Amino acid sequence: MLGTAEERARRAYHARFHAEPECVASAPGRINLIGEHTDYNGGHVMPCAVDRRVAVALGHGQNSLYSADFEETHAATTARTGRWTDYPSGILWALRARGHTVPDIQAAFAGDVPRGAGLSSSAAIEAATALALAHLLALGLPRQELALLCQQAENAFVGVKSGIMDQYASLLCEAGAALLIDCRSLSAQLIPLDLAAAGLTLLVGDTRQERTLAATGYNQRRQTCERAALHLGVASLRDAHLEDLRALRGEELRRARHVITENARVLAAAQALRGGDFAAFGALMYASHASLRDDFAVSTPALDAFVQRARAAGALGARLTGAGFGGCAVALLAPTAADALVATLPSAFAARGLPSPTVYRFCAAAGARVAQ
Ligand code: GLA
Repeated sequence: MLGTAEERARRAYHARFHAEPECVASAPGRINLIGEHTDYNGGHVMPCAVDRRVAVALGHGQNSLYSADFEETHAATTARTGRWTDYPSGILWALRARGHTVPDIQAAFAGDVPRGAGLSSSAAIEAATALALAHLLALGLPRQELALLCQQAENAFVGVKSGIMDQYASLLCEAGAALLIDCRSLSAQLIPLDLAAAGLTLLVGDTRQERTLAATGYNQRRQTCERAALHLGVASLRDAHLEDLRALRGEELRRARHVITENARVLAAAQALRGGDFAAFGALMYASHASLRDDFAVSTPALDAFVQRARAAGALGARLTGAGFGGCAVALLAPTAADALVATLPSAFAARGLPSPTVYRFCAAAGARVAQ
């Protein structure tokens, strides 16, 4: 793949539509540093953007969406099709549902966010499309509004009941910072995360496991959390405290305990980052993983193996990131420790009968932007 996602989208637009795009925009994938399965419980999360992006070049046209990666063209639709075009179609639909006048467009997409790995390639395509359209049509919508619009497209058009984290991260993150989001008030604060200055890197391992359970397991977890909140008589688990757990049993108790302790970990992690205490931050990542594994039950043997190998290689912290049920884990460590970890992964995973993870090194990258 030659050039940035933005250059590739622009070239694809020229090649497919024989014209100059009126707008080029791009948006990144994300990793969640801490705060898992808390967003839909009105809690706290702290993701950062990664330096992998989806770009779109677009202009007025004959209702035509082209993907340079899939090499296929489809019209935008007014109902879900199960194809990648549901994401841009969902954005067009959501804008029109809010009363905006949106003309037919032609658009070319190109990107390098790994798909189906839990790095939010879907939020990236939504965010890039929403930002480009808002720019093209001079809608003057703030980024928070665009993120909510993307979530509406994802929930109501694509049909995935995700929280707000991924779209907020893609649209509001900035380079060299994590984003602390309060998912109830929807306020977000940038927290400096200069990994290079701290001599650290983020190593992400994609376990390459089918995430077939992701949709059903995710929705079940949401329902259990809602039931637990109902039992406790609170609007969401954000309002529950450790003492309240006495009133719960079984699954509801374990899921609620994860959410309550994870919210506290996110706030402690933000405090640790503000003070430059990466050791404390890393310890909270390990604690988050244990809670996701034991109480929330969304880890897998491959994710556990990655975290275990990361610890053995001297990582300050490691945890599964995203919804779980496969997908990615992230480790915070020195570049030399990252090299050591990468070297041991193939044999350690082979010994467990697991495929070796695909690894990516990330820094905290820039959020969505208009390139033209
Ligand atoms: C997925 C969802 C997010 C969030 C995470 C779990 O990534 O899209 O909204 O719920 O799972 O933390």
